[in-house]
Amino acid sequence: MAIKRIIPVSSGKGGVGKTTFAVNFALALSRHGRTVLVDLDTGTSAIRNAIDVPIERDLYHFFRRGEPLANCITQLDDKLDPQHQWRNFGFIAGPLHLIDEITNFGAAHKARLIEAINTLPADYVILDMRAGLDANVIDFLPFSNSGILIFTPHLPSATLAASDIVKAILFRKLRLIFSKESPFFATVDGGLNFWKLINDLIDRVEDVYDSSVANLDAFALDLAQNLGDHPITRTVQTTIDEFRVHYVLNLFNGVDDSFNTAVKPFLDNLTKNVSSHCGVTNLGWVTRSAAIHRANCNCVPALLLPRDAKKAPKANRIAQELEDLRLTAIGLEPPKRKQAQTAPSASRAAEDPLARQLDVLKAMFEQKKDDDYYANFDYVTQRTLFAMKNRRPSELGDTRIYTPQEMLASLFAKSNVPTTIDWTELE
Ligand SMILES: Nc1ncnc2c1ncn2[C@@H]1O[C@H](COP(=O)(O)OP(=O)(O)OP(=O)(O)O)[C@@H](O)[C@H]1O
Ligand SMILES: [Mg+2]
Repeated sequence: MAIKRIIPVSSGKGGVGKTTFAVNFALALSRHGRTVLVDLDTGTSAIRNAIDVPIERDLYHFFRRGEPLANCITQLDDKLDPQHQWRNFGFIAGPLHLIDEITNFGAAHKARLIEAINTLPADYVILDMRAGLDANVIDFLPFSNSGILIFTPHLPSATLAASDIVKAILFRKLRLIFSKESPFFATVDGGLNFWKLINDLIDRVEDVYDSSVANLDAFALDLAQNLGDHPITRTVQTTIDEFRVHYVLNLFNGVDDSFNTAVKPFLDNLTKNVSSHCGVTNLGWVTRSAAIHRANCNCVPALLLPRDAKKAPKANRIAQELEDLRLTAIGLEPPKRKQAQTAPSASRAAEDPLARQLDVLKAMFEQKKDDDYYANFDYVTQRTLFAMKNRRPSELGDTRIYTPQEMLASLFAKSNVPTTIDWTELE
């Protein structure tokens, strides 16, 4: 079996279409490999309500009855999949009713579920996250990318919440790297002398009411000015520079509107509150469609509905495939290698990320404007697969959900990472 890739779908805010996207995206991905969709919005059991099939076992059986997670996968039945076209798709439903210990997992439950997801037999695992930014969301997210964020036009609070996810992930990582228990300080001359200095500074950056250090870029600059080319400075800059954001526009309604009311506010929030140096990639969009909404109301994933033959892909397959390959790569060129530097330089800022996003969106729209939603999901899927193939797993589609220990072990020599740390102190 190929190495598994895990992609969380989140938004920070409710009602923007996470579940709709996650369900149909998982179906589209299942054409390329075994795909399991996991309902981590365990309070509302949204996936159970989105797919009308009998469910024999769900997360209740995993947590309360000791069933292996792989035994809690539900497949489509003959009613939804009469021709057995979707045999590579399965999902793990949340519990039937709200069960507090499953909805608000404690540390032990969380660790068990993470371990079980990491060992699921699948090529792709999609996580449908709940809205919000608490530890039960953030702890399932990767340390160095956002997974797929869903935005939608005309919901300014959602773009703010999406940039807050990036902020929360980055701060969680920095706090762990610079925690007293981290092996980091053993690698630095003067070690723990820096601990208070750096943690006080992190507190000030994270505190939105303290405007003395506005965001992580100001933080990195402050460190560069005070410490020069120091391991702390470099660690902070690398953590920011290597972070990757991928997003999908749901309820898409044209370039101008989506750009002005979703992409631009998101990037503005990200730049202002977090950093202008994280790589941001648009994976495509899903059009606003009455058919999608109707399908949701009928508990049938929209991709399972028969497609209007007139809209199906054109006849010349080879030409079409070449064209698709070209389009798939738009905006997914490998990022330019960054030179080692001690301070954020003018040249990095000179590349206007907003203009780049608009160019990519326009180029995609030019070719894809007439696509129906089936083609939308295909396109996002192709781009995601392309990105996963050409980028490191830490950029999109991690091979496992990393625990704090594993993240530190991947940064520092494994033997230096203590195995018993009370991480809850850090939350
Ligand atoms: N592309 C779309 N076209 C039309 N309606 C859509 C589309 N995407 C989502 N919707 C509708 O928007 C509503 C919210 O969608 P969904 O439940 O997927 O959002 P969510 O982000 O998962 O919400 P929650 O935060 O509650 O989990 C639903 O009524 C759904 O049918
Ligand atoms: Mg949902």
